[in-house]
Amino acid sequence: MTKLNYSIKGFDFCEFYVGNAKQTAYFYQNAMGFKLIAYKGLETGSREKVSYVLNQNKIYFIISSPLKKNTDIGEHINLHGDGIKDVAFTVTDAKVAWEESISHGAKSELKPKTISDSNGTVVISSIKTFGDTIHTFVERKDYNGAFLPGFKTIEEKSTNKNRLCHIDHIVGNQPDGKMLPTCEFYEKVFNWKRFWSVDDKDINTEYSSLRSIVMTNDNKIIKMPINEPAEGKKKSQIQEFIDYYETSGIQHLALSTKNIIKTVRHMKSKGVEFLNTPKSYYENLISRVGKIEEDIKILKELGILVDSDENGYLLQIFTKPLQDRPTLFFEIIQRKGSNSFGKGNFKALFESIENEQLKRGNL
Ligand code: FE2
Repeated sequence: MTKLNYSIKGFDFCEFYVGNAKQTAYFYQNAMGFKLIAYKGLETGSREKVSYVLNQNKIYFIISSPLKKNTDIGEHINLHGDGIKDVAFTVTDAKVAWEESISHGAKSELKPKTISDSNGTVVISSIKTFGDTIHTFVERKDYNGAFLPGFKTIEEKSTNKNRLCHIDHIVGNQPDGKMLPTCEFYEKVFNWKRFWSVDDKDINTEYSSLRSIVMTNDNKIIKMPINEPAEGKKKSQIQEFIDYYETSGIQHLALSTKNIIKTVRHMKSKGVEFLNTPKSYYENLISRVGKIEEDIKILKELGILVDSDENGYLLQIFTKPLQDRPTLFFEIIQRKGSNSFGKGNFKALFESIENEQLKRGNL
């Protein structure tokens, strides 16, 4: 395939469609350290949709809810529950990104559109991807407002230490048999490559099994693992997601930190729930991953996982689902050389996930 005539510079924002944007935003602000930077709603003349824009270093979330019945957002929530609608990319040219995506077989969600306010001009366009999820292309020409035209800037005084740095990767779950076609979509539309993969021989516990391929763009800033369930004795966690989200969708966002111990301790003190790690996981940890700088006693106390490869190691931990349906969750990750995805932890992790599935009656 020929080279793209535009480039994807990174993740721009993720937009969440939720039932109660005000309360969801409060959770991300207070439990996860995000700051409210912009808003649109009835007070700004937006009659159908309310949106809170949250920021933490390079991470931007839009939390949106409908303000009346019979809206697309309401329909989305009715079908999927709270979840991520849009994974947006910052691009060098939103018109060309849209045109090339369409010519490579993607379906349009929004034709290129120029939006401006007194702070400058932005061009946006969107295409559909798996399930009801979309990718918006954002071309920030000379824009120097807080977020995007149409939002009112909020100057929130925040005491949060802003410990989360950027989006490390975003994972999409697919129904059985749909992982490869989804990866082919990204190869065809964006010329992305396969960065890393695991199959069910690598990842299976007694019950739960999955296959995964990580797709990445040319500068490797965008990493999107694509999962599908694999046959197991009982229900795969990926299948549980599909059953409750009703289709493909975003399973987790991995957010990076420079100090996972401080970050996780803070989030726990604010009520964020993490998956439990079996205490036996820490026996022989050093012989599995090699020497690490962190105190294993503290990692054990917090349940933080470690994995290593030839380039170094990584520390990671996973939250429980962030809404009542067992769908979206977050991963907190600190990389110390390793660019992989914690394959060595999948077994310990899956056993913990299966315990939660069992409590929900879904195993
Ligand atoms: Fe992950």
